[in-house]
Amino acid sequence: MQYRQLGVTGLEVSTVGLGAWAIGGPGYAFGWGPQDDKDSLETIYAALDAGINWVDTAPVYGLGHSEEIVGRALAERRAEPIVSTKCGLVWEPGSSKVHNELSARSVEAECEASLRRLGLETIDIYHIHWPIPDEQIEEAWEAIGRLIQAGKVRFGAVSNFSRDQLERCGRIHPVSVLQPPYSMLERGIEQEVLPYCVEHNIGVWGYSPLQNGLLTGKVTPERVASLPKSDWRQRSSQFRSPVLEANLELVEGLKEVAAELNASPAQIAIAWVLQNPAIGAAIVGARKPQQISETAPASDIELPDEIMQRLSGLIEKRDRRVAAET
Ligand SMILES: NC(=O)c1ccc[n+]([C@@H]2O[C@H](COP(=O)([O-])OP(=O)(O)OC[C@H]3O[C@@H](n4cnc5c(N)ncnc54)[C@H](OP(=O)(O)O)[C@@H]3O)[C@@H](O)[C@H]2O)c1
Repeated sequence: MQYRQLGVTGLEVSTVGLGAWAIGGPGYAFGWGPQDDKDSLETIYAALDAGINWVDTAPVYGLGHSEEIVGRALAERRAEPIVSTKCGLVWEPGSSKVHNELSARSVEAECEASLRRLGLETIDIYHIHWPIPDEQIEEAWEAIGRLIQAGKVRFGAVSNFSRDQLERCGRIHPVSVLQPPYSMLERGIEQEVLPYCVEHNIGVWGYSPLQNGLLTGKVTPERVASLPKSDWRQRSSQFRSPVLEANLELVEGLKEVAAELNASPAQIAIAWVLQNPAIGAAIVGARKPQQISETAPASDIELPDEIMQRLSGLIEKRDRRVAAET
């Protein structure tokens, strides 16, 4: 397992981190279908055993459930990985309807609830989950500044922010970490956001490097059709025709490259993310211990230029097909 310093935080993070979204299970619009808590705990332990030293969760993942499971794993193992969580997506007790809210009062209440569920006194990295509503960004960021002063948060972070929104926060207090989407199928941050983060030494950990499982090589149209209704991927455009077929064509090429390198497609997809020098780490999701045991070694894979060029060719072909067919 490789470790890198995450921007200005000074934290040495494993370049593969564990994402605990799917571990939250069903129960709201962005759930991942039924999930066994025992599998979830085993997955977290397998991640720690593989040298992963941080876990990313959020209150909204399973409406508190993912944070509770992470909290249980921390207590049972007495391990002390870096813990990252978020604020800004809230729900009323007893309801599964989630809405965006970034008022200071809400951020402070969310932080207390996360600390309780995680069984922690301090959250290492605390993100604004989405920049919505836009007019409350400054209020939320100031609230996070006060949580840092109060010792409840170590570093303030944001997720899914544009360059302009990063600049607005940076005028109030520094943004330590950005959590954006980044995968072979989702490269929207390359032009503006990543150069800004490099310039300002903002640590970047990219999420969904496997595009929610698509780049593992284990997704087929039949499997997509049989996903349970409570799995949000049924409604994702990446998992629907005609984008799905273009994605799966890319995955066929990815499989060939992986076989030549004696690796799995998932490992190559993660290694591709880590090859970008502006990326500090990848947040890799898993719901079974075998999954993270398979993907964690991607941290040690270096892709030669010739392989990167072949992967770029696959990406360009896929992008052209998507542009032509959508
Ligand atoms: N800030 C944000 O807005 C945001 C948004 C998205 C994600 N995130 C963070 O990033 C993390 C990672 O993103 P992600 O969960 O979307 O996904 P990901 O890493 O792109 O995909 C993870 C999914 O792929 C499948 N998978 C993983 N390893 C596998 C293997 N070895 N073999 C076969 N299938 C495998 C599993 O689903 P199946 O087994 O069900 O196929 C797993 O849940 C999240 O957990 C979360 O912490 C943040």
